[in-house]
Amino acid sequence: MAKILNDYPSVALKPEDLGGKIDFSHIFGRKCPVHIEIGSGKAAFLLNQAMAQPEVNFLGIEWARKYYRYAVDRIGRWSLKNVRIIRTDAAHFITNFVPDNSVECFHIYFPDPWPKKRHHKRRFIVPVNLEQLLRCLIHTGSVRIATDHTEYFEQIRKVLAVCSNQLEKIEFFPTAGANVGEWVGTNFERKYLKEQRHVYTIAVRKV
Ligand SMILES: C[S@@+](CC[C@H](N)C(=O)[O-])C[C@H]1O[C@@H](n2cnc3c(N)ncnc32)[C@H](O)[C@@H]1O
Repeated sequence: MAKILNDYPSVALKPEDLGGKIDFSHIFGRKCPVHIEIGSGKAAFLLNQAMAQPEVNFLGIEWARKYYRYAVDRIGRWSLKNVRIIRTDAAHFITNFVPDNSVECFHIYFPDPWPKKRHHKRRFIVPVNLEQLLRCLIHTGSVRIATDHTEYFEQIRKVLAVCSNQLEKIEFFPTAGANVGEWVGTNFERKYLKEQRHVYTIAVRKV
């Protein structure tokens, strides 16, 4: 039987309600550091990290309707007040709605690798999107990335290297929901570790 997923309007931001650049303190009802997760999947990271860091406001961006609905239901049932999620394309949303110098950290865990060469243009971590992340980050804000995909990881390192004058490498520490041997404790990480895949991580800070 299909699981019944509830809607929680207080959790879900609607793209159609956004006017222009958003005011995070209005959305969360308080002024606190903002972390954004790109491609939240079933929201395992958001839930665990938001519980561990109640002083941080977390926004998840998820494109796939089935994951988004699952995430809304979970965040709502956990009654977390410091998490919101929006169903939209992350590149479009960040470019058009996230203000300059407003985000403390971007989390990007297991971004779709689009392995076929003709699909590489669909990858999220490309120079034009990194430029936008840099624009939105506060001074000393960070970007944290994990992937199992060797070739995409190489591309990610190259894309970050292009902006090396604006970034410095920092340690990638495991997230709150990670078990021993895990980095981020998300559904995709657990699936890939079961398949004995290597997980690559990288974290950089805006200087
Ligand atoms: C491989 S899954 C990883 C999910 C989760 N981060 C995890 O580790 O379990 C990639 C997720 O990113 C979402 N996604 C891909 N491109 C996106 C985009 N442009 N904007 C928002 N979400 C996106 C997909 O729908 C999918 O849920």
